[in-house]
Parts: sequence; structure tokens; C-alpha cells
Amino acid sequence: MSSGIKNVEYGLEKIFEGAQDFLPLLGTDHVEFYVGNAKQAAHFYKTAFGFQSLAYAGLETGLKDRASYVLKQDKIRLVLTTALNSNSPIGEHVKKHGDGVKVIALWVDDARKAWEETTTRGAKSYMEPTVEKDEHGEVVRAGIYTYGETVHIFVERKNYKGTFLPGYREWKSDYNPTPVGLKFIDHMVGNVGWGEMNTWVKWYEDVMGFVNFLSFDDKQIHTEYSALMSKVMSNGNGRIKFPINEPAKGNKRSQIEEYLDFYEGPGAQHIAVATDDILTTVKQLRERGVEFLSAPPQAYYNEIPTRLGNHMKVVKEDLTEVAKLGILVDSDEEGYLLQIFTKPVEDRPTLFFEIIQRMGARGFGAGNFKALFESIEREQAARGTL
Ligand code: FE2
Repeated sequence: MSSGIKNVEYGLEKIFEGAQDFLPLLGTDHVEFYVGNAKQAAHFYKTAFGFQSLAYAGLETGLKDRASYVLKQDKIRLVLTTALNSNSPIGEHVKKHGDGVKVIALWVDDARKAWEETTTRGAKSYMEPTVEKDEHGEVVRAGIYTYGETVHIFVERKNYKGTFLPGYREWKSDYNPTPVGLKFIDHMVGNVGWGEMNTWVKWYEDVMGFVNFLSFDDKQIHTEYSALMSKVMSNGNGRIKFPINEPAKGNKRSQIEEYLDFYEGPGAQHIAVATDDILTTVKQLRERGVEFLSAPPQAYYNEIPTRLGNHMKVVKEDLTEVAKLGILVDSDEEGYLLQIFTKPVEDRPTLFFEIIQRMGARGFGAGNFKALFESIEREQAARGTL
């Protein structure tokens, strides 16, 4: 297990006492995007984000209706899937939502039990338990719907030794850009509609046995113009964290409302990926063309020593460098964290990525919300959607 995951688990036992163990989750298995052109999207994630070619399925492997490219960086696996004809539900998904996350797949020991436990508790089934085999063994998968058209697929791979899943072949490429130090998925955020946050909080509690371990209301998350509310849900071992956002009333249009308008419904807002050297990671991402939200003003950086207080003694990063790269810094009782947010990675202002380095802190950068949202609002203003 990576040191990063240990960081995340640090000191969490007490908080998660209330979580139920009817749905033990080993981690995030993969995230599958439905996109307009998977071949080109795969090239982007390799070139810009340093992902490696892992597996492929398409016409050459006997599929008629879709092509999927699987990419890997340390523990993160992304699957990019596109439709090969006009009658495909994949194509319909892309037509409605644009490129976006369809599947948040969770790694389990027993996919049949995960499906039974969750559907018994009210989850709507997406895929009944299905066994898939090839010469490397067998995988059991089963799925349920979550917010919007997004789904969770439970993946049981303890009897499988292949590259990814049955039906996929290894993807060897001559083009292998170097990784940028992305390690694992720290959390994945969902945006839901007006007044729906608590419905989904209850759904994750009742159906998946998660606990709500942090909440932010619109008094904490607001700027002069707009507001949102957020509750962070976590499973029992703390490896899976799903903050749920809903828009709140402000003077202008909330960024969550903008997302819902352009995604045409609820969906995954951002994927936070962990690194243990954010300065190097962000420097390389910038050199490779990844666009980040604009840096906060210098005043923000001048206030960091005051805001971090005692934690300043243990901060190893050069704050001049941190400011130069536009990275945000926050702290809680247990430590500090560094984070930065990309601009949306597709044409619609929907899904984006967060790069995060936790140095003991288990929060989500609440101290950065104002600086972050003001930066998002500058982008919204430029799009004419504020
Ligand atoms: Fe985040």
C-alpha cells in the first residue's frame, strides 16, 4: 500500500466507527469515461497527464459497438470508451452530457454480495452479477445506479491474473510519455441538483453504509456572488470518499448550477488524484499543456504563514515555488495539504481534475474555498455564465 493511502487513513478509525461493514470496499478499481473520440482522449491523458497504455478492446478484439482504451498511472486506471455506431447508449450518453464519467468502479472481494446488499437496501440495479472469463481467470462484475446516469460497478478480480478485464488485450504502444507522479484517487466529487444533497447523503448512508464525516454549508462556501453546499461521504476504511455538492442561492449563478446546466443533470464534478511531490507534478503538467485555474493574488500567499500557524514548522515546500505554480495551501488539526485545480478537461464546463498532496491533513481545503471559487468565477465570467 502506498504511503499516500496511509496518510489518508491516519487517525480516521474513530470517525468511521459508525460506518457499516456490509459493503467492504478495497479501493477504486477504475473510472470509465464515455467520450466522443476515445483514441484522441487516450492520447491527451498520456501526453498531458502522463498515463501509460495498459489495455484495449474494440473491433480487433471482437467488439462491434464500442472501443475502449485503458490507461494506468501507479494505482489509477482510467477507461476511455466511445461508441462505434449511432444506436449506442454510449453515444446517447455523450450526446446528452458531453464527455464525462459513466462508471466509478469499486474493487471488492465479493461482487455478488455487494450487489445483493446494495439492491436490497434500495439501489437500482445497472448490471446483475456477471461472470466473465478468459485464459487468465475470471472476473465477477455487478453494478448499481447512483446520481444522474452515473453508475458504480463492483469488480471482483481475486481469481484473475490478466492485464485488466476479460475481453481486453494488452495495449503495447511505442509512445510512452513519462508519468508525472500521480498515485491514486483521493476522492471523487458528485454534483447533484437543487435540494438533492441530503437525498444522496442518505442514499450513501443507507445503501452503501457510508458515513458523513465533513459538511460545509453555504455560509462557509460562498463568495460575493455564488454559493454551494457540500457533504463528504466516506466508506468504513476511508479509502473511498465521495463529497456531494448542491448549488445554493447567491447573487449570481453558482458553479454547480453551471455544471448541471452543461452536463444536463447530476454527474461527477472532479477527480482528485494524489501525488507525494506536488511541485514536480504540477510543473510537469503545466509544461505538458494542462491548464489550471488562475492563481490567487499574492495577498493569499502572504497570509499562508498566519493561516498555517504551527504547521509552518513542518512545511517542507518552498512557498515561493508554491506561489509561482499557483498551488493552494490549507491545514487542519492533523496537518496541512497542498492542492490545485485544472480547468475543465472538455469543451463543456463540466469535469475537472484536482491534484492533491496530503501532509497529514484529512480535510478538503476549506480554507481555500473562497480563493478557489473566486478563480472559478473569473472563468465563468469569461464564459458569460456567471
Ligand atoms: Fe476536491
